[in-house]
Amino acid sequence: MAAALIWISLLVGLLEGLGGTEAQQTTLHPLVGRVFVHTLDHESFLQRPEHVFSVSAPIPITYHAHLQGHPDLPRWLRYTQRSPYQPGFLYGTATPEDRGHQIIEVTAYNRDSFNTTQQMLVLLIGDPEGPLLPYQAEFLVRSHDVEEVLPSTPASRFLTALGGLWEPAELQLVNITSALDRGGRVPLPIEGRKEGVYIKVGSASPSPPA
Ligand SMILES: *[C@@H]1O[C@H](CO)[C@@H](O)[C@H](O)[C@H]1NC(C)=O
Ligand SMILES: *[C@@H]1O[C@H](CO)[C@@H](O)[C@H](O)[C@H]1NC(C)=O
Repeated sequence: MAAALIWISLLVGLLEGLGGTEAQQTTLHPLVGRVFVHTLDHESFLQRPEHVFSVSAPIPITYHAHLQGHPDLPRWLRYTQRSPYQPGFLYGTATPEDRGHQIIEVTAYNRDSFNTTQQMLVLLIGDPEGPLLPYQAEFLVRSHDVEEVLPSTPASRFLTALGGLWEPAELQLVNITSALDRGGRVPLPIEGRKEGVYIKVGSASPSPPA
């Protein structure tokens, strides 16, 4: 009986807490051992009617994301944004120790109006279905920055390109890392030069011999 009462008051407290913040909440399902990418779109953080976007000038927005109750993101998750006029990305590959749920708080700062908006991302991290991927290979793509491969189209184009070597249906993205995070090169913003990105793929079957 006492236990039930404690639970009820905890629940009420939680609900009140959520009502007060008014943060938008999104539930996502990252998989252990697979690349997870979440795009922080300006549109989803701006409180304006749809039709205003097409006519008005772009708005600069920057983001800050952290694990609830901690100053930083969990170890497996990285944040990147090329410029305030481009979307931000949260990306990474969860490890078996990350299974369960993690709450990421994202604050968007509108650099024109100084308005801030908050979102909560509820990550439910679980195991992928299907076979294990014991055959893995990593490629360094020198011609791209990490932000250029994070949107799903370039990443899937890369997988298709590898299809000539490997059964494309079998290939999964298991890790994407900026070459800068590997300490590969000094991060000098040289015009036209790319940082490079490491892309790791995995398959249930070995790549056929060339
Ligand atoms: C992905 O790559 C990063 C950087 O090399 C590394 O720290 C991390 O452990 C890798 N994650 C997995 C799940 O392989
Ligand atoms: C800032 O946000 C508030 C509430 O979300 C909104 O009413 C106001 O118009 C915004 N200000 C600007 C300059 O966008």
